[in-house]
Amino acid sequence: MGLQGVTKKPHALLIPFPSQGHINPFLKLAKLLHNKGFHITFVNTEFNHRRLVKSRGPNALNGFPDFHFEAIPDGLPPTNTDSTQSIPALCDSTRNNSFIPFCHLISKLNHSHDAPPVTCIFSDGVMSFTIKASQQFGLPNILFWTHSAGSFMSFKECKNLMQRGLTPLKDASYLINGHLDTVIDSIPGMKDITLRDLPGIYRTTDPNDILLDFVAEQIEATSKASAVILPTFDALEHDVLEALSTMFPKLYTIGPLELLLDQTSESKLDSIRCNLWKEESECLKWLDSQQPNSVLYVNFGSVIVMTHHQLVELARGLSNSKKKFLWVIRPDLVEGEASILPPETVEETKDRGLLVGWCPQEQVLKHPAVAGFLTHCGWNSTLESIANGVPLICWPFFNDQILNCRNICREWAFGIFYTF
Ligand code: UDX
Repeated sequence: MGLQGVTKKPHALLIPFPSQGHINPFLKLAKLLHNKGFHITFVNTEFNHRRLVKSRGPNALNGFPDFHFEAIPDGLPPTNTDSTQSIPALCDSTRNNSFIPFCHLISKLNHSHDAPPVTCIFSDGVMSFTIKASQQFGLPNILFWTHSAGSFMSFKECKNLMQRGLTPLKDASYLINGHLDTVIDSIPGMKDITLRDLPGIYRTTDPNDILLDFVAEQIEATSKASAVILPTFDALEHDVLEALSTMFPKLYTIGPLELLLDQTSESKLDSIRCNLWKEESECLKWLDSQQPNSVLYVNFGSVIVMTHHQLVELARGLSNSKKKFLWVIRPDLVEGEASILPPETVEETKDRGLLVGWCPQEQVLKHPAVAGFLTHCGWNSTLESIANGVPLICWPFFNDQILNCRNICREWAFGIFYTF
């Protein structure tokens, strides 16, 4: 397509943090903006772009003249593996290395004959190097934090908690000596919160913890954004949203994104997907053959890694439950090379359990056969469950999953806590 016909469209440049739990809500936001008449450029890292092409085929990301994909380096050493990248390494690397390639990309797009000039940036809240770029190009920058309002507020408290000496912990004994149960009464909009309830980054004993420094820096940059968006909604997080709105006057909520997308008519964009793993959609056929409300869906998202011992105990639990289950074991879910299940549980559950490597989660959660979800409480999984009315069994591992679990079980009461 030539420049004619595209010049009048506003052009949104979207850049998520390079992991699945950030790419997915950004893709939904991109589709909603496209529906409102925006020309879209979606920026992945080269590492993820290569994985997407591998899992979806070379043409999966092309085909729409006004919705296209670009890639910039993440700054990490090149690798040929497809394993999930280290989150702390990515945080450090993107903040130190992505500014210049991002500016080059904006210049390139502004000189393109196939797209109108960039008119605004929608950047991940944890990719705040984009603020400097937006200032340089005179563009508004809307920061999209892909977490709950409670998590965002907890991150906002990072500096305060550090100044009060509550984190980092002085040593490992603080993990068991009651320190984690101290009620932190100073967090606006959040009552009866203890350190144990807050995102897991605060449990570090490392005085130079890279994530604490990173979060404090990203939050500070957020005050320079043109606006902030959170994927949540008022009925769920009213108090904390009210408190945040006095701190960030241009704070908007947008969620659950899946319900907003369902209301648009842009089904032609359905084929644009960004799964980093190859989807095994045959599991939907297996669900079709099951009774309504009979299957437990088990999935731990895109980042966590469990020990072999945890995997085996879970396999035994599912076996002993005598329930039907659909269990997603990502190829890199288990530490080392050890995702081998006990043969007796495999044999015992072969007629009522299905194992896959990656599934179309939103379709699974919509399926009438699914009765419940054993989850790590990632924020996307939480919202997708709310959107489909699926109750949860919660097994959080780290970071915001801890606070999500606490709220799901205690405040919102649609889940129970799984203790291991
Ligand atoms: C992590 C954090 O836990 C989360 O809270 C934060 O906001 C982003 O980083 P992640 O482990 O990726 O997230 O979990 P989650 O937030 O639940 O996102 C996973 C996404 O991948 C969901 O959109 C889910 O639908 C999708 N998914 C997952 C699939 O499509 N298929 C799968 O088999 C597994």
